[in-house]
Formats: sequence, C-alpha cells, structure tokens
Amino acid sequence: MIRIAVLASGGGTNLQALLDACAAGRVDGRIEVVLSNVPAAPALQRAREAGVATEVLPSKGVTDRAAYDRQLVERLARHRPDLVCLAGYMRLLTPAFLSAFGPAPGTRGCPRVMNIHPALLPAFPGLHVQQAALDYGARFSGCTVHFVDEGTDTGPIVAQAVVPVLPGDDQAALAARILEQEHRLYPRAVQWFAQGRLSLEGRKVRVEGAGGVPAPQLHPWD
Ligand code: GRF
Repeated sequence: MIRIAVLASGGGTNLQALLDACAAGRVDGRIEVVLSNVPAAPALQRAREAGVATEVLPSKGVTDRAAYDRQLVERLARHRPDLVCLAGYMRLLTPAFLSAFGPAPGTRGCPRVMNIHPALLPAFPGLHVQQAALDYGARFSGCTVHFVDEGTDTGPIVAQAVVPVLPGDDQAALAARILEQEHRLYPRAVQWFAQGRLSLEGRKVRVEGAGGVPAPQLHPWD
C-alpha cells in the first residue's frame, strides 16, 4: 500500500479517478493529501468529500519559485508520500521540489513524481494542447503519463493511450475523448508504480510484465 500525494489546480477529474481506483482496490495505495495552489480549486472539494486531508498553498503573485517549492515540500513531507501525482497542477516544478522526490530505495531508479498530459508526447507539450492538435491537423492524439523532470512535459514516458481526432471535432469534444482515457490510464500507471513494476534505464521506463503487446492495439490493457 503506497502513500500518495496529489497536486491539483483545477477541476480534479483525474484526482477523482485516482480516488475511485484506490477505493475500489485497483490501486494498492491511499491518497494521504491533496494540495492545491488555487484556494477555490474544485479538486479540494473532491478531496474533502472523500475524507482526504487538504493543504492549500496559494501561488498567486509568488515570484520566488524555489522558495515556494521548498514550502511545498515541507507541507507534503508531513504526509510522507511514496509518490506525488500531478493532476492538472498548473505550475512547473523546480529542482527544489524534484530533488526531494527523486529516486528512492525500492523505486528502481524511478523518480517519485508523475504527471498526466493530454497529448501524445513529445508532440504538443505545454498548454492548450487539444486545440494545438486540432490546428495541426493531427489524426490521432491521446494522453501520456510520465515522470516529471524540470522541463515542460519532457520526463520519461510511463504509459500512453491513443484517441482518434474525428472530423468535426472541436476543442471540447477532443478534450472529453482524451479525458476519458486519462481516467483509465493514470490509475493503471500508478498501480504499476505501487506494484514495483516500473524501472528506469536512461530515459526509458520499463514496465515489468508488459512485453508482447501487439503494435496496432490502441489501448494495450483491452
Ligand atoms: C487534464 O487534461 C490533464 O491531462 C492536464 O490537466 C487536466 C486536468 O483535468 N494535466 P482535471 O483537473 O483532472 O479534471
């Protein structure tokens, strides 16, 4: 049973997917704390409803990012997380944070911070990426769970799911199709971490027991 901390700035549907997966035993973990940099984030309400501790550390107007991140570490450390999951956390993390949650004994080289991004990295990092995929004319997009490094959505890829871009899609339609897969993918990736199945070699994440997936399958767990 791993101890999980979730950082969220917004609606928290990915947080909800993780809460539900923990409650249903699909993730061998417990969400110990949900921290937000946005006091009014609906994600905090979801945490309260699930009986999970919340922390708020407003970031508005903050200019010293490293000092902010040191405070963040202090707040999280009280809850002794094994894994920190970013779920719509809209700030880049500095080394002050990432060095506190680097690889640890038992994580087989994997850092202890994960993120979910609504595109197939390395295509479309950053913000407004569903619109970017539409504007580019991509035929497929999807979502990526990755370990977090200092870059913008550049860390080692843990898992991806693909969705088609359909004629007539607008930003909202594509975002909703991707989000549906996010809610399936993130808990699975977290469960792999909880089971100790992930290891990191260079920037490649190995998933133990995930060999032999036929290439054309869009969602390898189906
Ligand atoms: C998701 O699309 C996630 O991939 C991105 O931010 C969005 C958060 O949505 N990082 P929610 O707050 O989980 O509903």
